Amino acid sequence: MNRREFARLVGVGAAVPFLPAGYVWPRATALPAAPAAPDEKFWLAVREQFVMPPDLAMLNAANLCPSSAPVLETLYRNTKDMDRDPSFDNRVKMGEGRERTRRLLADFLRVTPEEIVITRNTSESNNLVSSGLDLKPGDEVVIFADNHPSNNTAWKEKAKRFGFTVKVIPETNPHPGFTHYVEAASRAMTPQTKVLAFTHLTSTVGDLLPAAELCRLARERGVLTLVDGAQTFGLMDVDLSAIQPDFYSGSAHKWACGPKENGVLFINRSAQPKIWASIYSAYPGAVGVSKTFEAFGQRDEPAMIAFGEALAFQTKIGRAAIEARSRELTQALVAGLRTIDGVKIWTSADPSRTGAVVSFQPGSLDVRKLSAALYQNERIGGATRAGQDRPGVRFSPHFYNTHAEIDRAVAAIKKYMARGV
Ligand SMILES: Cc1ncc(COP(=O)(O)O)c(C=O)c1O
Repeated sequence: MNRREFARLVGVGAAVPFLPAGYVWPRATALPAAPAAPDEKFWLAVREQFVMPPDLAMLNAANLCPSSAPVLETLYRNTKDMDRDPSFDNRVKMGEGRERTRRLLADFLRVTPEEIVITRNTSESNNLVSSGLDLKPGDEVVIFADNHPSNNTAWKEKAKRFGFTVKVIPETNPHPGFTHYVEAASRAMTPQTKVLAFTHLTSTVGDLLPAAELCRLARERGVLTLVDGAQTFGLMDVDLSAIQPDFYSGSAHKWACGPKENGVLFINRSAQPKIWASIYSAYPGAVGVSKTFEAFGQRDEPAMIAFGEALAFQTKIGRAAIEARSRELTQALVAGLRTIDGVKIWTSADPSRTGAVVSFQPGSLDVRKLSAALYQNERIGGATRAGQDRPGVRFSPHFYNTHAEIDRAVAAIKKYMARGV
């Protein structure tokens, strides 16, 4: 029986269930060296490193990014290696690969490997913080309304259990300027406040918060900071040595274009004595806080190694170049959306107050129907936000997108706004 016959037998149509050894995902060109001033030709070559079909315009980086072919190959090669020979002896090198990823993460965020925990995603990282701090009745945690549930729901649920209180700073739209956030946090914090938890770049409408200023203010008041970096890790050239949070969280599968179920939690050296590990098991990390905090039992080390490859891939292109490219595409998108009658953009008109997340309300169009039409008729993938609070569509372009895709997205919105869905 050949592969095709076997595939038919197990009901997966004509798909080939197993990849040949040393499989290389087809791509037209190798990743060229990044020029000093990358042009559209370079970004098209970057796009070719991804296995998405050319007609699919994915504008949903804030939710889930594709991994590049080199990352997929690393994941596949290491998974195959592990399953070919799962002995402890063969897996020694996997542990070394995991530590290499830790070092790459530390370089990426400009901190030390001793402060890095490789988690499974931002949700887990945020929850390891809210579960691990010694908080008791009388203590207070200050959060921002636009934080993700893995931050805000977690604090509120744990408050019920441990007796501390949670104070929510309401959101203000549009972004009222950086000073607003610092003043709002300053007013909200009291001598009882132990933690300030905020989102670096919000997933709701893409508001950028003044992370360094908020962390400095909290530090002056003896308050710990949790910075949710789900929307900045892998998008912005984040420098934690400048921001100086106590905790920073991120997911591999978002802007970093890494494998699924990998994430990062940075725990500042000074905060390490103040937090308990929530999971105690075998197979911790090898250095610093990971020796006590990262003993989560058996891990998917091939995925952890592929996470490192994703960081290396972005570093090769250039972190600043990636941020600049994503911002440039976003500004082109915003400029296009602004020309469409009836579109209300929730994201700040000031590029310095945002990143690469754009939310807008397409007039009175049914957002779910619009989203389905965008995907089915136009091959454009975005996200939707239901409810009364700044509802609409969210587009989040990344460095694998092209100006042609942005133009297509704007033209499609224009078309449906004019004729309905
Ligand atoms: C700001 C923010 N925090 C946390 C998360 C959770 O990320 P994950 O699902 O990777 O845990 C998200 C996901 O969209 C997010 O936008």
